[in-house]
Amino acid sequence: MKTIKIAIDGPAGAGKSTVAKLVARELGYLYIDTGAMYRALTYMALKEGIDLNDEQELNKYLMNHSIQLINDGVIQKVEIDGEDVTDLIRTPEVNKNVSLVASHPEVRKTMVKIQQDLSKDQSVVMDGRDIGTYVLPNAELKIYLTASINERAKRRYEELIKKGFQANLEEIIEDISLRDKRDKERATAPLKQADDAILIDTSSLSIEEVVEKIMKLVHERT
Ligand code: C5P
Repeated sequence: MKTIKIAIDGPAGAGKSTVAKLVARELGYLYIDTGAMYRALTYMALKEGIDLNDEQELNKYLMNHSIQLINDGVIQKVEIDGEDVTDLIRTPEVNKNVSLVASHPEVRKTMVKIQQDLSKDQSVVMDGRDIGTYVLPNAELKIYLTASINERAKRRYEELIKKGFQANLEEIIEDISLRDKRDKERATAPLKQADDAILIDTSSLSIEEVVEKIMKLVHERT
């Protein structure tokens, strides 16, 4: 079977990482969560007291440290210089600041290079915001996954409650809307559907149905 690269982009909470992980597992491909990489940099910058508006300092930090994504079955661990930051990168503080860190052109340039190196000569499923448009412009399959804001917020809310966290639906809607706005309006590599990407609205679909749709598209190309 021919192997391909799969790019999955879309707004926050559309189900990209859940679906991407399952597709990668089914195909035996490498899964790369690029959002986790921007989150890891944001977490470390907050911890080290780096000014999140200081593009040069953030980029210097990124170039001098190593972010690793470790595939451990369905769970993907994220490490910076060997320190496990998997859970620490999902806090409200990181949520609030990550799109600012990701808006800096120099940071994006370095991240894109790291992501392209990670996927070189590999069959990958990569998810993010600019994968089909910038990171893997030649990907054989590009998906743009979206869902209504209410549905995306509801899913995130239920996920948090299931994990035993407190959650407020209104706050989640606000957080997701702000992040989407920043991601869509930034000057460098904004979130947008690539011209050759296939749009899947997951509002009324189950995870299994989305995976099935994508697997069908994969089989048409392999
Ligand atoms: O996918 P996730 O929600 O974890 O991404 C967190 C943030 O990282 C996004 O809101 C966006 O600001 C940034 N990001 C990005 N480009 C990517 C992946 C994520 O700008 N390829």
